[in-house]
Amino acid sequence: MRDFHSVLNEHRSIRKYKKTPVKKELIQKILDAGTRASSSGNMQPYSIIVTTDEDLKKELLPLHFNQSMVMDAPVLVTFCADFNRMRKWLKLNQAPENFDNLMSYLIGMIDATLASQNVALAAEAEGLGICFMGTTLASNKEISKVLKLPSHCVPVVGFSLGYPDEMPEKRDRLPLDGIVHYETYKDYSDTRIEEIYHQKETEGMKRYQKDPKLREMMREGGAENLAQVYTKLKYTRESHLNYSKDVFDCLEEAGFLHFQ
Ligand SMILES: Cc1cc2nc3c(=O)[nH]c(=O)nc-3n(C[C@H](O)[C@H](O)[C@H](O)COP(=O)(O)O)c2cc1C
Repeated sequence: MRDFHSVLNEHRSIRKYKKTPVKKELIQKILDAGTRASSSGNMQPYSIIVTTDEDLKKELLPLHFNQSMVMDAPVLVTFCADFNRMRKWLKLNQAPENFDNLMSYLIGMIDATLASQNVALAAEAEGLGICFMGTTLASNKEISKVLKLPSHCVPVVGFSLGYPDEMPEKRDRLPLDGIVHYETYKDYSDTRIEEIYHQKETEGMKRYQKDPKLREMMREGGAENLAQVYTKLKYTRESHLNYSKDVFDCLEEAGFLHFQ
């Protein structure tokens, strides 16, 4: 078992995995650590779906935008905001069911995310690797169908899990003093923004320039700097508007959007 601070500081997302399966007992151990995360009202309004079945993974692959780790990793873990279970318990006890609104979804989403990061750290402490997949949220409606999620239960975050078959370079982070505000928020001057993002821009551009595919992507998309990579290529207004609509639809279908 690795030292806690080295687990935190040595984190890198793993996108290539060995074929070695992850033993059921080890999966149980790291999931158990996940459920020790703080939880709103200790309700634990989330469910964790562990997928190892190859056919199910194949179904999930396009929903995760064909990211290679879906098939490469032996395990996929999907964390869902889930008030289905709690509402059933409430009903059995003649208690108002509630939890069919946006606030409930957000609470479930926070709890699911906290649990997911606990599981991720526990996994990394055991020598496993993970890579979160934002496609879990972007495709939440379709993933719900594949995973047979009931109402009041929607996917929030997910990651691939397995033994690393790569040791990527550690990715940069913004400097701590660019993120932390003591007592109250101190808004940023342009000069400060330039200082804070300087290293990210330098490292990011190096990465994009080194990789022929990324370089070509930048050229084709007309992105001249890292900031433009973010909003002209990766996270365009159009794509995020479309994802927003999809996520909204999913929440509505799952029964989380009652406003009265
Ligand atoms: C919510 C979330 C979604 C992510 N989605 C993806 C993804 O779909 N594909 C991917 O390759 N990496 C994904 N990542 C991983 C990030 O790209 C990665 O954490 C970031 O680049 C920093 O690199 P590091 O984790 O190696 O330090 C995601 C991370 C988070 C937290």
